[in-house]
Amino acid sequence: MSFASVLVLNGPNLNLLGTRQPAIYGSETLADVEQLCRQAGKRLNLAIDFRQSNAEHQLIDWLHEARTTMQGIVINPAAYSHTSVAIADAIIAIEKPVIEVHISNIHRREAFRHHSYVSALAEAVICGCGTQGYVLALERMATILNARNLK
Ligand code: DQA
Repeated sequence: MSFASVLVLNGPNLNLLGTRQPAIYGSETLADVEQLCRQAGKRLNLAIDFRQSNAEHQLIDWLHEARTTMQGIVINPAAYSHTSVAIADAIIAIEKPVIEVHISNIHRREAFRHHSYVSALAEAVICGCGTQGYVLALERMATILNARNLK
């Protein structure tokens, strides 16, 4: 079995994980999430490229780059899930399997968080599983890439 590359992309304010609203997002930091993803990547034979940006244009540029360098995308677009047609358009343009992750259960929160522009484009949406959601997303991505013989 060969290694497939998966981009794990994190949107705005996720750099503050661990200190930001811990009652909602928990006490793990983004570095902890990165470590979780790297461990899962080793177990699943996935090469993990883990990134975070607060800037919409940066996230879009990384998605464009992934078109030729990655086999799949796991993305927590954070607040841009609910606002960004531009990120949704980038996901459509790159034609890669995408799994959307939210640490919190966005459907149990404010109404403005219930809609995500990314969800209709994603192979799967995982929310409310805490940081474990990233691991679940990578497990599902490995299954998808295996089924498509991309791994
Ligand atoms: C989030 C949920 C979003 O509504 C919020 O804006 C975030 C994080 C989550 O992981 O639960 O920043 O994507």
